[in-house]
Amino acid sequence: MKYKLAYHNNKPSISKPLPHEVWPPNADQEELKELAQQRNKDIGIRGCTGPIKELEDNFKEFLDNKVKYTLTFNSGTSALLASYFAIGLDEGDELIGPALTYHAALSPAFFLKTNIILCDIDRNTRCIDPNKIESLLTEKTKAITVVHQWGHPADMDKILEIVKKYNLKLIEDCSHAHGSRYKGRLCGTFGDVAVFSLQTNKAIFAGEGGILVTNNENIYNRATLLGHYRDRCREEIKDPLLNKYWATGFGLKLRMSPFNAIVAKHSLLKFKQIKEGRHKCLNYFRDRLKEIDYIEPIVIEDYIDMGAWYGFKPLYLKDKLYNIERDKLILALQREGMEVSAPSGKILAEESLYDSDRNILFTNIYRKTKPSIEKLSVARLVNDSALSLPTFYNWEDDKKLIDEYIQVFKKIKDNYKELL
Ligand SMILES: Cc1ncc(COP(=O)(O)O)c(C=O)c1O
Repeated sequence: MKYKLAYHNNKPSISKPLPHEVWPPNADQEELKELAQQRNKDIGIRGCTGPIKELEDNFKEFLDNKVKYTLTFNSGTSALLASYFAIGLDEGDELIGPALTYHAALSPAFFLKTNIILCDIDRNTRCIDPNKIESLLTEKTKAITVVHQWGHPADMDKILEIVKKYNLKLIEDCSHAHGSRYKGRLCGTFGDVAVFSLQTNKAIFAGEGGILVTNNENIYNRATLLGHYRDRCREEIKDPLLNKYWATGFGLKLRMSPFNAIVAKHSLLKFKQIKEGRHKCLNYFRDRLKEIDYIEPIVIEDYIDMGAWYGFKPLYLKDKLYNIERDKLILALQREGMEVSAPSGKILAEESLYDSDRNILFTNIYRKTKPSIEKLSVARLVNDSALSLPTFYNWEDDKKLIDEYIQVFKKIKDNYKELL
């Protein structure tokens, strides 16, 4: 047989070298100037002043002024720990969260000796499946965490109904969903508290950083106590019962550096433009993928705004491509010059931290409820069949590349026998 695919050492179809997704964008002169000035002004900020205050104020505006309090942290993980502490999660409580997401959405709750109960996800939204939550509730369930996965909002109507009916706390992890909306309402404004990671890869990035948002004064006060002892606690916490802890807080220091705040402030300024480019590219990509019968593009209803649109992960339908294994398909696509991989990470039930009954990292707790992998069939399916593709955002350059990607998908189908 005369081979055509680059899999067999032929010339790749795509000539543009990797990476095809260049992130984060470079700083402009304004940002560099502000970073340099900050160096001689103040290299560490204790209270709510300077670029920290500016970022927190700008973030409120970004959320249409629908949240009263914004509080920066040195990472999204820290902000999540503060959220769990602030809502009062405690030893033996149960927190329900999605089985397929980044672990740090939930893992910090282990630190409070809370038991994490994993719930299956929905194939279309990739978020926690609200229809599977009620069977997991017990008298110990205290809270639900939704992650608006890859920028797609969770099914908030049903989730709000459940939290109201059972009087549960709701945490939103918006680390993928800066600017995403469900029926016109911004992600981050539904829960008791919400967190946005601002880590380098995120649509709004600080380098390392996170921001907690809430309308609840007590949650804000307790989160401040967890990570911001001294000046900020003394100046910001009005409740005398909590203010008396200002000097020590709860013993942790999880503040953002002013340099990270400056980077985040400037990335926030550019967000709208990048979002528009990303939507143009990814809607086009999604539309064109409908021409490929072995790829299932993600479903986006008309009441969904994908906002940051953090990931682009269609499913590979193996049975439509003669059962060629995903790894082999990925290798074939990579050899044609595409930037593609399997999404990193496992379903959380298979991470050691979540899996083991007796967890040697913590001396005196054990998981009372081992995750039941059989009940996580959609998480398993998505994890085993998703493809991770670039979240293009430069329409002028990337449209051509998207067209080339589609041609490669077609070439693979036309020459599938070379992969059998
Ligand atoms: C859904 C989700 N939650 C939490 C985090 C943790 O954020 P950070 O890396 O800023 O600590 C991430 C980071 O990738 C994430 O994707």
